[in-house]
Amino acid sequence: MRAAALLSALLAAPAALAASASDWQSRTIYQLVTDRFATTDGSGPACDTSDRVYCGGTWQGVINKLDYIQGMGFDAIWISPVVKNLEGNTTEGQAFHGYWTQDPTQLNQHFGSESDLQALSTALHKRGMYLMVDVVINHLAAPTNPPQYTSLYSAPFNTDSSFHNECFINATDYPNPPVYAGNQTRVEQCWLGDNNLPLADINTENQDLVNFWYNWVANMTKTYSIDGLRIDTVKHVRQDFWTGFSQNAGVWCVGEVLANETQYVGPYTKFLPAVLDYPTWFPLINGFMTPQGNLSAIADTVQQTQSTYGNGSYNGNVLASFLENHDQPRFGGQTQDQSLIMNAMAWPFVQDGIPIMYYGQEQAYSGGADPANREALWLSGYETDKPLVKHAMALNAARKAAANASSSFYSTPIKFLQNTGTQLAVSKPPLLALLSNQGSSSSPQWSVASAGYKANEDLVDVVSCTKVTADSNGGVSTTAQSGKPVVLVPASALPKSGSVCQSLATGNGTSTTNQSSAAAPRAGLHWTSLAAALGVAAFIAKVVVA
Ligand SMILES: *[C@@H]1O[C@H](CO)[C@@H](O)[C@H](O)[C@H]1NC(C)=O
Ligand SMILES: *[C@@H]1O[C@H](CO)[C@@H](O)[C@H](O)[C@H]1NC(C)=O
Ligand SMILES: *[C@@H]1O[C@H](CO)[C@@H](O)[C@H](O)[C@H]1NC(C)=O
Ligand SMILES: *[C@@H]1O[C@H](CO)[C@@H](O)[C@H](O)[C@H]1NC(C)=O
Ligand SMILES: *[C@@H]1O[C@H](CO)[C@@H](O)[C@H](O)[C@H]1NC(C)=O
Ligand SMILES: *[C@@H]1O[C@H](CO)[C@@H](O)[C@H](O)[C@H]1NC(C)=O
Ligand SMILES: *[C@@H]1O[C@H](CO)[C@@H](O)[C@H](O)[C@H]1NC(C)=O
Ligand SMILES: *[C@@H]1O[C@H](CO)[C@@H](O)[C@H](O)[C@H]1NC(C)=O
Ligand SMILES: *[C@@H]1O[C@H](CO)[C@@H](O)[C@H](O)[C@H]1NC(C)=O
Ligand SMILES: *[C@@H]1O[C@H](CO)[C@@H](O)[C@H](O)[C@H]1NC(C)=O
Repeated sequence: MRAAALLSALLAAPAALAASASDWQSRTIYQLVTDRFATTDGSGPACDTSDRVYCGGTWQGVINKLDYIQGMGFDAIWISPVVKNLEGNTTEGQAFHGYWTQDPTQLNQHFGSESDLQALSTALHKRGMYLMVDVVINHLAAPTNPPQYTSLYSAPFNTDSSFHNECFINATDYPNPPVYAGNQTRVEQCWLGDNNLPLADINTENQDLVNFWYNWVANMTKTYSIDGLRIDTVKHVRQDFWTGFSQNAGVWCVGEVLANETQYVGPYTKFLPAVLDYPTWFPLINGFMTPQGNLSAIADTVQQTQSTYGNGSYNGNVLASFLENHDQPRFGGQTQDQSLIMNAMAWPFVQDGIPIMYYGQEQAYSGGADPANREALWLSGYETDKPLVKHAMALNAARKAAANASSSFYSTPIKFLQNTGTQLAVSKPPLLALLSNQGSSSSPQWSVASAGYKANEDLVDVVSCTKVTADSNGGVSTTAQSGKPVVLVPASALPKSGSVCQSLATGNGTSTTNQSSAAAPRAGLHWTSLAAALGVAAFIAKVVVA
């Protein structure tokens, strides 16, 4: 009876409308914290991040500011979890971030109503943009320990038998590379959080709860026409749960597996369409944070991911690359050097997979660890003449132009044509990115033989809007001013009518490749402490409950 009801619900799932990985591959994603992005009436209330309280951002506010996001060239957004969270104050403040689910069958009214969320989805789709929603499946939150299951939660969670027995995960449970001495069973079945704010770990070994989630996700993506999901705390649920979950979602899903080891993260790509590119993120921030950083470690990690990710064959869609997110201190708070920031910011846009940029990076926000990295964007005035807004526009434009010029752009894995530890030439034809970490007072010299261009082809560096001409072998020699990144595409690929480097562009905007239709991914972020930047462990051992 129950199984039959479930089956009919599943058959009603929106497979035909759903967005696939290939639908997402041409997208770039702007991640925002719903409570901190924009208010319904456009007002700019005070918002002290250290208070950890709701500041007033809403889904309607996001709708009002879609021009700002789309104007930078993004064509997808990732919003905070949408479901009802714990109300009121806790030892860790309020649930403004959305990661403390109390009832997944209701929405978080701080962000708006059901019709507001539907309106956001509709407004995005009218612009040809996608909606990615963050989901938390591993746990529900409780303000006391033990949780008062019957009064706090609705069915099927209103009983302690829906949860794993309580035990808190600690550092010794995590695999500890290079010796994998952890206990994955405890990682999956013990609890995140702590005695003050336990995150009750749902028993995803129990088929009734599996059915609940599979049914729930099919209904959510359909009800709100969601195009993709970001899935939180993926490593805390058994791997084979995710296959059915992602199939029932019917859209592209990107999982948060917070670890720096490709050997640990890679296997999850057998169960989910994609993972957040955490293994590369660790060497990325370390490589660009100071001129002493080592860019070779980035190249090493990419080579590992290219050989281990994917379900049998590597495909750039299996990862989503990022520099910042709501769980990690902002990069701009860790170096003042504008050229280092610009180089690091370029990375997700020239790496394989789907780029994500965290809101506020374009406004040079510099908040430290959670909760300081969740600043209200209205305090910036949404200025669009800021250098990093222009940088984001240029990076988006370069990517789109390269894809227009080559139908194999997205599916071609990047290659490193030069790698000295301080200079990295990243080729994803016809895009060539020359990245360095020597800082604003440097002028890196570049000489990249056989970069793959036509003899004497006119190229444009979209960062500085200067022309570079390929040599007779299609190689490139140039100097990077003030240590900035150089991001080259053929002048013929950049549309004359576009928003970037118009005076050098010679393209007519005609695509040699077909633009994909709308689709939807899913992904999820989570709040965990930063380990690598602090020199802690490969695994995020300490979980901050906020
Ligand atoms: C929330 O509770 C914490 C800990 O009990 C307390 O320090 C903080 O001041 C409270 N915040 C508000 C807004 O009540
Ligand atoms: C972590 O948990 C294990 C298993 O319960 C326990 O043996 C160990 O002492 C704990 N370690 C710490 C640092 O709490
Ligand atoms: C891992 O943890 C589980 C659950 O606590 C326990 O049953 C198992 O014995 C542990 N395995 C090892 C190798 O310690
Ligand atoms: C689907 O979701 C909507 C909105 O949350 C809810 O009203 C409805 O009851 C759900 N339907 C099922 C079958 O779960
Ligand atoms: C991985 O491959 C298996 C076997 O072909 C398939 O059943 C599964 O759906 C694939 N998973 C993903 C995430 O593509
Ligand atoms: C940089 O990293 C590479 C690859 O991980 C390593 O071989 C090399 O020794 C490192 N260089 C320095 C200076 O640490
Ligand atoms: C646009 O440019 C392409 C490539 O140079 C060319 O094939 C095409 O004919 C041009 N289209 C128009 C309308 O000028
Ligand atoms: C890409 O091609 C489409 C036509 O298919 C055109 O509308 C768009 O302007 C082009 N974009 C770039 C950046 O060249
Ligand atoms: C683009 O789509 C059209 C119509 O579907 C098809 O005829 C054409 O071959 C496609 N071009 C490319 C480059 O894929
Ligand atoms: C992961 O981080 C740990 C601790 O910082 C480090 O020892 C290890 O080399 C890192 N592994 C990779 C692949 O970066």
